[in-house]
Amino acid sequence: MRSVRLAESAGFCFGVRRAVDMVYGLLETGERDICTLGPVIHNKSVIRDLEQRGVRVVDTPQQAAPGSVLVIRAHGVPRDVFDECERRGVRTVDTTCPFVQKIHRLVSQASKEGRTVLIVGHADHPEVQGIVGHCGRSFVVKDLEQLQALSADIPGLCTAPALMVAQTTLKGDVWQKCSEYGEKVYTNLIVSDTICNATYLRQADSVRLASECDAMIVLGSSESSNSNRLYELCREVCSHTYFCEQISEIPAQELAPYQMIGITAGASTPAYIIKEAIQTMEETNKEMLQNSNEEISFEQ
Ligand code: F3S
Repeated sequence: MRSVRLAESAGFCFGVRRAVDMVYGLLETGERDICTLGPVIHNKSVIRDLEQRGVRVVDTPQQAAPGSVLVIRAHGVPRDVFDECERRGVRTVDTTCPFVQKIHRLVSQASKEGRTVLIVGHADHPEVQGIVGHCGRSFVVKDLEQLQALSADIPGLCTAPALMVAQTTLKGDVWQKCSEYGEKVYTNLIVSDTICNATYLRQADSVRLASECDAMIVLGSSESSNSNRLYELCREVCSHTYFCEQISEIPAQELAPYQMIGITAGASTPAYIIKEAIQTMEETNKEMLQNSNEEISFEQ
């Protein structure tokens, strides 16, 4: 029997949905001069739709004109972005995810107490750059190897008061190794697991499904950190894992040999892209059925 199954927690997370809703909500209030600091979501079709409604994407707060509204996206920003906007008369609408805001509060409080902040995540990711901007002394490491090297290179780091937090979309196994090392080697370290529960759930659901399928499709943008993680994790358990922004990027004949196909989607993938993938595969499978007498089922 040929079947297509959708991961339970595929698609928009709470924080991304909230941010996108807040931008559309702003438009509904009649606000016209709106820009977002970076794309509010890693999805080209949503960004295109917002652009058509007059919402511009800017790279720096300086590109927002005085009097305009600058939307801070779910990733959050360094504290000085708000100061800069206030100085220039740019109004801000803050859609920073509450889970990221919690990290900002944690690192800010720890910094006031004189703690060094160790952030496990990707230094070039906007969320991490935002967190760094709420810290005093901080270091970013992406994995255990970098943490070990840092701990050996910086004199006194392992005995200094410190706090360790994670980028919300970090892979669970990377966090486990780093936090275990920190607890073993550091003498005055507070470890705070700040990986988002939505990320844990989506990763666990997707990996479970991928391990049961012959092929797995991860729908998401190549710019989306959590979608990339999903792809890596699924590929570890299912070698025929495909990563695409829309199902049309995968030729139908590519999936033809597989009997059980799983679908998952990153936190910034809108529901209509997931539905489109299911519908496309349904249609492809119907055509195959006509040619082969095979039985097909769809599950969620
Ligand atoms: Fe927030 Fe978690 Fe999404 S941190 S933006 S709900 S992945």
